[in-house]
Amino acid sequence: MSSSFQLRAATPEDLRGLLAVEQSAFPRERWATRESLARRLELFPGGSVLAEAGAEIVAFSNGFPIRDLKTQSELDPGDEHLFSPEGKVWLLRNLAVKQSMQGQGLGRELAREQIRLAQAAGVRCVRLTAPPELSGWYTGLGFTMIRSPEAFHGLAQAVWEQAL
Ligand SMILES: CC(C)(COP(=O)(O)OP(=O)(O)OC[C@H]1O[C@@H](n2cnc3c(N)ncnc32)[C@H](O)[C@@H]1OP(=O)(O)O)[C@@H](O)C(=O)NCCC(=O)NCCS
Repeated sequence: MSSSFQLRAATPEDLRGLLAVEQSAFPRERWATRESLARRLELFPGGSVLAEAGAEIVAFSNGFPIRDLKTQSELDPGDEHLFSPEGKVWLLRNLAVKQSMQGQGLGRELAREQIRLAQAAGVRCVRLTAPPELSGWYTGLGFTMIRSPEAFHGLAQAVWEQAL
């Protein structure tokens, strides 16, 4: 990653910048709300990492431990129902890079940071849901598909995992 980017822990004071990243990266129907992002930051403060270029927040990632949930419907409920302090699976919940900053290695750097956080938390694997278009990207990061894409809330999503 270019040295012009800095990673640091995200805090509730960063909410406005995180929302801007979310709204740039995703189509409107996939935006997390301000409230759900705020809850995510509070739930497991050590699990949120952002990237800054100068004073601008340009990318964001979030993860936290959960129980051994594998299917789309199991992974669907709100974060407070998924979060489990003793869980042995790390859910990579958010990964978003501002559109103008995509393709420069930021997403990969933040995904690797989530894997490091998961290792430090002592879980046995990292798990995530993602649309099939990102198959090549997650394979390149060492993830394996454990549930093939299925339509869920009108969007095809697969479940991916990487053992630690
Ligand atoms: C998906 C996303 C996080 C990737 O982050 P990024 O910073 O754009 O990607 P990176 O630059 O880190 O990509 C690293 C490598 O993967 C490659 N890559 C990017 N997209 C890819 C894709 N769809 N399939 C395969 N490889 C891909 C890049 O070319 C790069 O390879 P290189 O280093 O050999 O050139 C980002 O594009 C994004 O926020 N997209 C919109 C929101 C989203 O879909 N989030 C994920 C939800 S699960």
